[in-house]
This record gives sequence, structure tokens and C-alpha cells, in this order.
Amino acid sequence: MSKKVIWIPRRLSDATLERARRDYEVIVNEADTPGSAEDIVAMSAKVDGIIPCHSEHFSADVVAQLDPRLKIVANHSVGVDHCDLDALKGAGVVVTNTPDVLSDATAEIAMLLMLGAARHAVRGDRLVRQGEWDSWSPSFMVGKQMTGARLGIVGMGRVGRAFAEKARGFGMEIHYHNRSRLAPDVEQGAVFHEDVESLLEVADFLSLHCPATPDTVDLLNAERIAKLPKGAVVVNTARGALVDEDALLAGIESGHIAAAGLDCFKVEPGGNPAFAAHENIFMLPHIGSATRATRDAMGFRALDNLDAFFAGHEPGDRLV
Ligand code: DGY
Repeated sequence: MSKKVIWIPRRLSDATLERARRDYEVIVNEADTPGSAEDIVAMSAKVDGIIPCHSEHFSADVVAQLDPRLKIVANHSVGVDHCDLDALKGAGVVVTNTPDVLSDATAEIAMLLMLGAARHAVRGDRLVRQGEWDSWSPSFMVGKQMTGARLGIVGMGRVGRAFAEKARGFGMEIHYHNRSRLAPDVEQGAVFHEDVESLLEVADFLSLHCPATPDTVDLLNAERIAKLPKGAVVVNTARGALVDEDALLAGIESGHIAAAGLDCFKVEPGGNPAFAAHENIFMLPHIGSATRATRDAMGFRALDNLDAFFAGHEPGDRLV
């Protein structure tokens, strides 16, 4: 039987590409540039499946132009806000994602951002690196302590729970808001807040871990930022869409927000140039899942989903 043809628009890990090439006829975009709408539409006539990243956008407009040859979009991501799921479902295209396997790596980056934002990592690095570290005093670079502080988590899915587990190791008191309350054995003493507002009121540190959907756009807006205790630290490793960036900037400039740690932005790549003037905003370029082990695991999970689908089984991570 001839091999199915798949398109891999970005350069996935070596192990993923090796396995893909063993089992499929693979077209890889070696240039590793984001697949445009035109690329996606053109490739849909040549392949049976695509393994896109969040950089390839399957909007309703793109989906309307897809060739019926394309049967499955096996995302190399847990977030699927780059896919119009209703449109893909309507077009009869199966969609999968890669949950679980990136939770620890993303929680690690959230921890890095939380620590770095709270303890002035950007300014400290600059002072030492540029030879500007010329004094020390008890009031020099004083930051915010995590041990014993209250951490508010919005979204207690896999990543939120992985982050809570790590934060417990730092002696933080965990509070969370989620669509539904977790079972006591999963909650492990974390305090459930039925609404975001009551969570914000207690959050010395706030970390966002929910998907970007029409309901969560600008979830952290000016009104809600005002509800945070003065001196709170905000962390976002989920999606830039969740934060009203002008409101966050105003919160930083007024001093109401002590610091922020951000791995995602409304505009990616690029970020928000207005944030660059503030050394208490610690920024990373959307690298939450970027560890070797996790990238292999994401690639393999996407291939597992493809394999199951082409073998006539239900893919484990089918969304539509
Ligand atoms: C994800 O998997 O959603 C990460 O943000 C990387 O795309």
C-alpha cells in the first residue's frame, strides 16, 4: 500500500522527522517559515494530513478553500486558537492536538517568569553584564518573596495543575479559578474561587493557564487588574489574547502591578514594544514548551494521532 502523504510546515524535532519519514511520504518546509494561507490551501490538494504548529492559521476563510483530499490536521500544539474548529468540523476535517506532554515544560517556564519577574532578573542581569553593578545595600534590588505568598491560578487544566504542583514546592498557598471545581485529591488543598474576581482579590501572584477563546479575550482587563492586591506579580504563559496589554502597561506604570512575566503576546512574533522600556517586565519569546524532550513528545503525539486516524481508529486527542 502506498504511503499517505503529509505536510510538516515547520522544522519539527529530528526524532519526529525521522519517525514521520519512516511511516509517511513527508513534505517538510525546510525553510521553517510559517505556512501562509496560500501555502495551506495549495498543500491541501497534495497531502492527506498536515502537522501544523500554532503559526499556521486555519481560519474559516482558509478552511473554505481546502481541497477535500486533506483529511486531518494533527496539531503540534495543545492550544488550537489558530484553528477555526467549527469550520474544520463543517469541512469534515479531523483535528487533534497534543495535550499533557508539554504541561511540565510550560509550568517550568511559568516558574522561571514568576521568579525572574519577582526578583528583578532583567535589571540584575543588565547591571552585571554591562559592568554597572557598583554598589550593594540592604535596599538594593529588593523583590517579592514567593514562599508563603498566595498564588492565584486562572485555569486549572493540565498546565495549571502542573504549575500548582511546582509552586507548592515553593511553599505558596494555592488559590484557583476554573470552570468547575476539582476533586479534592486533585485540588490538594488549593482554594477554589467560583469567580475570577474573588481570586484576584487574594492573588499576590497571578498566573494564567486557560485557552484563548472568544470568552477569554482580555480576561485580564483594567477593571480586573485593579482588583489585584497592590504589588501583585502577573504571569502569562498561555496566550497573549488573555491580557489587555494597555491595561497591564498602565498597571505597571502606576506601580499597582509590581512586575510581570510574559511568554506570550497579542502580536507574535514581535511582542509589545511598549513593554521594552520596563525592566520589571520579564519577557520570553513563546518558548513554554521548548525543551528537547517535550518537542519530541509533541511530535510523537501528533504522529500517534495521525497513525490512529489512517489506521481507521479514533485518534486519542481528537477535538473535532
Ligand atoms: C502550545 O502547544 O499551544 C504552545 O503554545 C506551543 O504552540
